[in-house]
Amino acid sequence: MYDFRIDAADKAEVWRQILAAADALTDGEPDAIANMANVAALLFDALPELNWAGFYRNVGGELVLGPFQGKMACIRIPFGKGVCGTAAATLAPQRVDDVAAFPGHIACDSASVSELVVPIVDDGRLIAVLDLDSPRASRFDAADVAFCVSLAQLLAPRLTR
Ligand code: SME
Repeated sequence: MYDFRIDAADKAEVWRQILAAADALTDGEPDAIANMANVAALLFDALPELNWAGFYRNVGGELVLGPFQGKMACIRIPFGKGVCGTAAATLAPQRVDDVAAFPGHIACDSASVSELVVPIVDDGRLIAVLDLDSPRASRFDAADVAFCVSLAQLLAPRLTR
């Protein structure tokens, strides 16, 4: 049984514990789906004010829904569409304070107000994007982006099989 108790008060410490737990959970495990599933559960459990946390995989140049926690979501997202598709097309993190103001935002859960999407790239190839949604406007700041990028770098070589 995994039992990572993450209850620190400050955000940086929460993220440090998440990164350590994600490392421990995925170390030595080559199965991408298993690793995405556990990390989605970890993030949803440990981060406050989320209504969705999960992955879209790059399947032949299209984003396809992967392991997640939250309400049912749209299954396929073309590159360049919505927040996830923009992250996939540009290979740049997308931090959106209010999704209503993002052109082409794809509404999967009407509760989502702010969103953070980070591409996961291994050896120059997009593997997946990590998507976090919050019901609170401006939930994500620059520190969240930086820690998510670190998480993406940790996960990239562990999501290839
Ligand atoms: N809102 C996303 C779609 C995925 S859901 O939030 C889970 C987007 O615009 O790409």
